[in-house]
Amino acid sequence: MIEFQHVFKSYGRGRNILADINFRVSAGEFVFVSGPSGAGKSTLLKLIGGLEPASRGSIQVNGQRLDKLPARARPYLRRAVGVILQDTHLLFDRSAFENVMLPLAVQGHPWDSAASRARAALDKVGLSGKEDMNPIELSGGEQQRLAIARAIVNRPAILIADEPTANLDHDNAQRIMNVFRDFNRVGVTTLIASHDQDLMARYASRTLRIDPGKFADSNGPASPPDAGQPQSAPARASGARAEPGFGHPGESA
Ligand SMILES: Nc1ncnc2c1ncn2[C@@H]1O[C@H](COP(=O)(O)OP(=O)(O)O)[C@@H](O)[C@H]1O
Ligand SMILES: [Mg+2]
Repeated sequence: MIEFQHVFKSYGRGRNILADINFRVSAGEFVFVSGPSGAGKSTLLKLIGGLEPASRGSIQVNGQRLDKLPARARPYLRRAVGVILQDTHLLFDRSAFENVMLPLAVQGHPWDSAASRARAALDKVGLSGKEDMNPIELSGGEQQRLAIARAIVNRPAILIADEPTANLDHDNAQRIMNVFRDFNRVGVTTLIASHDQDLMARYASRTLRIDPGKFADSNGPASPPDAGQPQSAPARASGARAEPGFGHPGESA
């Protein structure tokens, strides 16, 4: 599902932020990306989302090698991976509904089915009834949920979120995590970068820890490419994934 083999990343001619990173995440896992500020958590997520190229090594996402991905397959990657960045990039001159419609509109999706998908996505994150509001009128937690709705409207197989609870109080942070948990329960592979060890420990079953110059996987080192699934991913990824992101999350409060 996601596989890093000997991945290095530096920006320009700078030092390696990530050096020789190896891991594999199976479908349906819930992974916590931890580490101090500046260690490279955001960089790791951007590599998975195809928002930054690796400097060296191979990254596979959903069976596609990102460095070999032809331009025509880029939209496929954008649909496969829902990305929630630290800056939510919401459009403050559009309604909540229009923000969620945007990814579908960009793809030329027919309006009627796009609208019903957008409403379903808003419903899944508990924002039904706030469709017409401007993001500026929403609380921090609601804005974060709106960003999640926009990320899941394409029904991605993978969700990556960068510090989604960073600016939220405890209750709202938990609420956001419950939304992710609900998507993960219907099969969406979920990776979340966060500082909040305690909160994440309650949700994630695996931790990828990045420290300057050091990388640790709570599942142990990656197995060789042809050695089958990691042995130490108990009970995860066993269920068949039906409609990613559109099972029955819902009870997210
Ligand atoms: N676009 C960029 N250009 C140059 N350096 C960058 C860029 N993005 C991040 N960095 C540097 O890479 C390092 C890791 O950053 P980041 O991945 O954002 O870490 P984290 O998310 O763990 O705080 C930092 O030293 C940061 O300054
Ligand atoms: Mg970061």
